[in-house]
Amino acid sequence: MKSLVRKTAVVTGAGSGIGRAMALRFASEGMNVVLADVDLAALKTVQGEVAASGARALSVPTDVSQRTDIENLRDRTLEAFSGVDLVCNNAGVDSGGPFADIPESTWEWVLGVDLWGVIHGCQVFLPIFLEQGHGHIVNTSSVAALTGMPLSAAPYAAAKSAVLGLSMNLRAEMEATNPQIGVSVLIPGPVRTNMPTSERNRPADVDAPAPSTMREEVQSFVGQYLEKEGMDPSEVADMVVGAVKGNRFYVMTHLQDALSTMTDNKSRMSQDSVALIES
Ligand SMILES: NC(=O)c1ccc[n+]([C@@H]2O[C@H](COP(=O)([O-])OP(=O)(O)OC[C@H]3O[C@@H](n4cnc5c(N)ncnc54)[C@H](O)[C@@H]3O)[C@@H](O)[C@H]2O)c1
Repeated sequence: MKSLVRKTAVVTGAGSGIGRAMALRFASEGMNVVLADVDLAALKTVQGEVAASGARALSVPTDVSQRTDIENLRDRTLEAFSGVDLVCNNAGVDSGGPFADIPESTWEWVLGVDLWGVIHGCQVFLPIFLEQGHGHIVNTSSVAALTGMPLSAAPYAAAKSAVLGLSMNLRAEMEATNPQIGVSVLIPGPVRTNMPTSERNRPADVDAPAPSTMREEVQSFVGQYLEKEGMDPSEVADMVVGAVKGNRFYVMTHLQDALSTMTDNKSRMSQDSVALIES
């Protein structure tokens, strides 16, 4: 998609972090932006920010783990705008702990948001792209798909690996059958967002892992690490815009680290967290 002007983007997880930054960046490109999130207060704030930049913004309260919510998101988008050109399946949560202590409902919550949210987004919006004859999907994976981090997030890593796999598959299928439909996968390394507090999104009926001092230390380390070393989300949004315009598949925010992760099976953050546990 060479130009984004007057096109329409849907962004899930738009209330914070990378989703918010993508929404603002798309608005600055002249796009209409549809914002989806479970956090209604955050949605309202970001809608105000997008509208202040002169773009048309629509907020749709959405739990991406629910297919009916994504169908509603599609319907509201098509009612408000003439079509949809770009869908960013970005909403995510992270919860973990020692593997043996992770409750089944935590697995279901994280896989529901991080994996099923992406599956629903692709399944519900792809038919529109096929009908229109164009469109672009950006799925958010993570460097966690390429590495392991002790005590951190096995459900998260599982979901993000699956997102990478399904995105590679969808990209290959579109290249072979509908090359005017683009697919990209965003693989962020550390980015300064509210991800370390994603427990705030845990539904009341989802059991939390048992308290663990080591888990709390690792979580606190990750929070400080992102604050100190994390990339600004606006830089990630710039990379996404570049990938959509250039129809590139991989959007790796920390390319060098991701490449060494693939060979060493350890990112810088995971090496540092191993050191923390060993100390
Ligand atoms: N920040 C990082 O270092 C990093 C690294 C790798 C991958 N990611 C991925 O980037 C994406 C964006 O995360 P972020 O870092 O901006 O974190 P964030 O917590 O700042 O934003 C995540 C947003 O998703 C929303 N959300 C949570 N559950 C939802 C649900 N069920 N339905 C709809 N929205 C929901 C939250 O309300 C929040 O607004 C996530 O998929 C995350 O896994 C982030």
